[in-house]
Amino acid sequence: MMRWDFDKITQEAIKEITACDDLKNLEALRVKFLGRKGLLTEVYSSLPTLSAEEKPLVGKNANNFRNKITSLLDERRILLENTSTDIVAETLDVSLPGIAAPVGREHILSQIIEEICSTFENLGFVVQDGPEIETEFNNFTALNIPADHPSRDSFDTFYLETPDPEQKDRNLLLRSQTSPVQIRLMKQFKPPFAVVIPGKVYRPDAVDASHSFVFHQIEGLLVDEDIKFSDLKGLLTAFCQRLFGEKTRMRFRPHYFPFTEPSAEVDISCYICDGKGCSVCGRKGWLEIMGCGMVNPKVFEAVKYPKGKYTGLAFGMGVERMAMLKYGINDIRLFFENDVRFLKQF
Ligand code: DAH
Repeated sequence: MMRWDFDKITQEAIKEITACDDLKNLEALRVKFLGRKGLLTEVYSSLPTLSAEEKPLVGKNANNFRNKITSLLDERRILLENTSTDIVAETLDVSLPGIAAPVGREHILSQIIEEICSTFENLGFVVQDGPEIETEFNNFTALNIPADHPSRDSFDTFYLETPDPEQKDRNLLLRSQTSPVQIRLMKQFKPPFAVVIPGKVYRPDAVDASHSFVFHQIEGLLVDEDIKFSDLKGLLTAFCQRLFGEKTRMRFRPHYFPFTEPSAEVDISCYICDGKGCSVCGRKGWLEIMGCGMVNPKVFEAVKYPKGKYTGLAFGMGVERMAMLKYGINDIRLFFENDVRFLKQF
């Protein structure tokens, strides 16, 4: 009579393996049946003690048992690995570096707009905006820009339709400056108020290193009774020193803008050479940063403010120009090409 009842052993092993539902216990079963001190080893090591007829039979049965149990254990292990919660512990290697999620950032122009606007907010100004589609009245007429002024020409302004001289002030265009928002706000609010207005403006310029058909401006307007040119000077001096540093010197150069009288252009001492003259300032020692002036009474007239009651100051600057000066960028196209290698430097 054979010492091993392989049918019975196999049936019991199958029962135990198929009932096993965690990987640790399954490993214990593998050791029990196939391990170095397990059942199968016991069978094989008994072979030398068996008779010549028994040996091949027991050997064959033992091999069948090993094959069957090995594949059964494998199947069960795969099943448990795919369903068991143990999988998390087994596959999550916490020592591996994580997968970094790319973190974006504000565009350089948005950063500059934010910096300039918040500098004015700290000086008591409020940020406002206006539409990019404007009337000819707001963009030109109300700003005292005469009907024959070259900037009104369709070569210099994007009209949405061919301008109709009959319609005149109601013709629609893409604003060529942020100044028309001055008109909108003055129509809407009674002084005193102080606003800064950032936004896009459009001009049909051929694109090159210093021209773009769309760019950004920041407009400023303060209206009250008894505002003087010295207020304008003091305000812009404070602004420039906060933005470009305490040591920055500035100068006002007489200029002409139809909507301000008197008007000036503001230069700051070159922050690279401190006024000595270098390639950034074109050997002049000064950098032009904005236009400004006292609001022309004709503009107050256009928005129907009572004659002689209010005075105001206004200024306007180009955002790309400010960014180019601040970071020494020499090509305006870089702002709009969306090349991440450029953008991620800021
Ligand atoms: N609108 C002018 C331009 O586009 C800039 C400007 C100059 C705005 C003087 C002003 C100002 O408010 O007072 O060139």
